[in-house]
Amino acid sequence: MAKPRIEFVCQSCGAVAPRWQGRCDSCGAWNSLVEETVGAPSRSAGKGRVFALFDLGTATLPPPRTTTRIDEFDRVLGGGLVPGSVLLLGGEPGIGKSTLLIQVCGALAAQKRRVVYISGEEAIDQVRLRAERLGLVRAGVEFAAETKVEDVVATLHEGPAPALLVMDSIQTMWTGTVEAAPGTVTQVRGAAQALIRYAKTTGASLILVGHVTKDGQIAGPRVVEHMVDAVTSFEGEGGRDFRILRALKNRFGPSNEIGVFEMTGRGLVEVANPSALFLSHHGEATPGIAVFAGMEGTRPLLAEIEALTAASPLGTPRRAAVGFDPNRLAMILAVLEARAGLRLGQHDVYLNVAGGLRINEPAADLAAAAALVSSFSGRSLPPHCVFFGEIGLSGAIRPVAHSMARLKEAAKLGFTRAVVPPANPEPREAGPENMATKSCPEVADLVALIASPERPAKADGR
Ligand code: TYD
Ligand code: MG
Repeated sequence: MAKPRIEFVCQSCGAVAPRWQGRCDSCGAWNSLVEETVGAPSRSAGKGRVFALFDLGTATLPPPRTTTRIDEFDRVLGGGLVPGSVLLLGGEPGIGKSTLLIQVCGALAAQKRRVVYISGEEAIDQVRLRAERLGLVRAGVEFAAETKVEDVVATLHEGPAPALLVMDSIQTMWTGTVEAAPGTVTQVRGAAQALIRYAKTTGASLILVGHVTKDGQIAGPRVVEHMVDAVTSFEGEGGRDFRILRALKNRFGPSNEIGVFEMTGRGLVEVANPSALFLSHHGEATPGIAVFAGMEGTRPLLAEIEALTAASPLGTPRRAAVGFDPNRLAMILAVLEARAGLRLGQHDVYLNVAGGLRINEPAADLAAAAALVSSFSGRSLPPHCVFFGEIGLSGAIRPVAHSMARLKEAAKLGFTRAVVPPANPEPREAGPENMATKSCPEVADLVALIASPERPAKADGR
């Protein structure tokens, strides 16, 4: 047998170096290399047929799904858990990952499916206390506090494969096949590999919990992200009770869906109508607040964009954005200045998406611009009005997708007007009743609309 080798593995990206160095050549992280001992790689016999080859043209059915009946969870996965698939759930400590997963386990167990929850972090009593609080002690979830994957896999092979296996968390798991210390990249990768092999061969769905570092990366095992079928993150804003489950990668479904939950004294509760959650000033006339009719994945979502502009005492005014891309903010400010003559150059500008939501859609440009113009001019926006549209560098407002879904969601929540891009190429379907749309071809028109003493009281017929 070949002798074990020593190598230095970057704990941040998994790159291997032959000797220690202060900085990883691959990802540039400092002090991230850790000495690890690796065993000799196993050699396959190299003779005979080991596996079957398939014709790619053979028709396959879409993967069957196991629905948990927690809709917000199922939707993010693309319609439920896919048997034999592996999901990585990342999130900061204390955000509610264990709570979410024990509820998912409970929901599946209630459908008389075998569910196994392995905790490497908490003792049996802690997990039982939480389950009691959630009313799930008698749900029939099988539980163990264990950290060695070989033991877990051997124990599971004793019975039928579970419909769902949860490993909380992957950083606490270790395998006897590699000699590195627990928590190192080599260990985490080795443990994940063994578990993924178990899931793929038995058809059990596997969920791995992963901690994230402060900058939002799944700590250590970035490598694990490449080994799994789907990566989701569970996020929340400090001090607020709602939590967002976001798909970051999904081999079996869309990767831009979100699920919204609220953390209550009795666990996580689904929020079926999240738009209402992210609107607070609905109806009040405060300058600097615009409502954006957005889309998160397949679902429309209304969000409030707040802007504050104030004359700056500084030579270089401050520009800050929370929940909004700072580069897009800079672009919108430049377009407002160049195309609509808004003199924001000597003003501090703050832009915030209320409720801790993050907006990545260019369609939010028009709403952001409306909030900025409103704050700058001190004039509040028309009441019960939503905005959407992308702003081009020429100042033109570009059409965006899903305008009908946006309008319908706004109408559902009691909004009666919408400022939209001109000639949105949508099927000529009639818009929602009681919704007056006003088309806005240029940013200058937006400024005129907000500054004009006469409010767009009537629809322009579009
Ligand atoms: P937890 O699921 O342990 O977080 P994670 O696994 O991501 O570290 O959740 C911990 C927090 O959730 C803790 O601060 C208490 C809170 N919580 C509730 O508010 N209500 C509940 O019913 C439960 C179980 C937890
Ligand atoms: Mg936990």
